Amino acid sequence: MSWRFFVHFSHLPLVQKVLYSGALCVLGLGYSFAMIYVFASHHGRDGEPMLTVDDIVIAYSGTKTGTVLESSLRGPMSNMLPAAENIKISDWVRNGITEERYESEMKSIFDKRCITCHNKRNPHLPQLEDYEGIENVAEEDHGADLYTLVRVSHIHLFGLTFIFFIVGSIFCHAYLKREWIKISLIAIPFVSIFLDISAWYITKIFEPFAWVVLISGAAMGSCFAVMFFISMYQMWFYKLPTDAHQEERGLVQQDESDPPTASN
Ligand code: HEC
Repeated sequence: MSWRFFVHFSHLPLVQKVLYSGALCVLGLGYSFAMIYVFASHHGRDGEPMLTVDDIVIAYSGTKTGTVLESSLRGPMSNMLPAAENIKISDWVRNGITEERYESEMKSIFDKRCITCHNKRNPHLPQLEDYEGIENVAEEDHGADLYTLVRVSHIHLFGLTFIFFIVGSIFCHAYLKREWIKISLIAIPFVSIFLDISAWYITKIFEPFAWVVLISGAAMGSCFAVMFFISMYQMWFYKLPTDAHQEERGLVQQDESDPPTASN
């Protein structure tokens, strides 16, 4: 079965195993940071501490009832200020913001807690230095805007393809008794990237697709972890079973009617 032919890790030169291990470790570290970032930027938007489907719905399609300011104060910005001030701002936003109360009570809080980062010199964050800036984030929350989604989509499409191409190419050298498992582990991440990114846009209009975002993200992460650990383990600790040697060289015949394709 020539399609089963592969060279196992144990037959690779040391230098290649060092290269592969280095790449896997750095990618693994990068992946861990990405997971931390996803958690930190999305969890808590719905008021629950864990990352939930509702958090994803709010991130992509908005709260419908709340504002960007409120959902960020419940989520990623909640530890930027003491709870009492947080409640004060949230109440003010919920009851309709006014410039008078901004000047008399709120400005001092924003100036003290927020404008070190949210100022007019930083084009990447909404500025909170004056009433106008606050108004912009105190409008109804429609979730991530299309421009942001397009920007993040192309970064993800390129970035994740590189990651899974590298990890998958390394994992091709692993030995798994069932070839279809190996093929699935390599293929699922690519399907997931596609589903994940499509689901971001669909979630904006149809909320249940937040599940697809969550599940495809989890599938990608799991495939990464499984390929990482199997590759590292088989590279450094594993002895290939004797019957697998033949298979590795493409000599094993699974289907009796199929003639062997290699003769050496
Ligand atoms: C240490 C820097 C820093 C401070 C201080 C800070 N923020 Fe932020 N804020 C950020 C960063 C970085 C982001 C974008 C990352 C993200 O979306 O999670 C952000 C995002 C936001 C957003 C969401 C923007 C959007 O379009 O989704 C709002 C609203 C916000 N902050 C409000 C505040 C408020 C109110 C305060 C003060 C109580 C505050 N921030 C204090 C760094 C800061």
